[in-house]
Amino acid sequence: MAGKKAHIFLAAAGIACILYSCNEQPKQQPPVKKPEHTFSVNGSVREIKISPELTEFPDHAGKAEFVSYCAMCHSLRYVTVQPDFPRHIWEAEVTKMVEKYHAPIDSATCRKITDYLVAIKGIK
Ligand code: HEC
Repeated sequence: MAGKKAHIFLAAAGIACILYSCNEQPKQQPPVKKPEHTFSVNGSVREIKISPELTEFPDHAGKAEFVSYCAMCHSLRYVTVQPDFPRHIWEAEVTKMVEKYHAPIDSATCRKITDYLVAIKGIK
């Protein structure tokens, strides 16, 4: 009889453990500042001002070009989520945006943006 009780106790303890771990809160994410987009209608013109996610990017030459050109089609987070890359990978990435996806960025600006990416997320 004592053996059976022990089994029931162990089973109950097991269930309690499972319940407890399911209840565990997911890891806290760092707070994300909500961008302040504005929307206005002027006659038939609708204007949406999307504020760039400037805050999370370090100041360095090329930042202005990066935040204006690279946010045309997608969030700048596409860059934030990448690991650090050597120069040739960033170069290829910027070239891909221009050649494959037709980003309207001239080659001098591409170089500036590549320099910026290498400065903020580059490795040797
Ligand atoms: C003309 C539109 C356009 C512009 C401008 C643009 N991209 Fe992209 N980008 C894309 C598309 C389309 C994808 C692929 C999206 C997908 O697969 O979901 C992409 C994906 C990416 C990715 C994810 C990795 C990959 O290769 O798919 C990175 C990093 C990236 N872009 C960086 C940049 C940078 C840096 C710039 C500025 C030089 C830039 N993008 C400008 C269209 C653009």
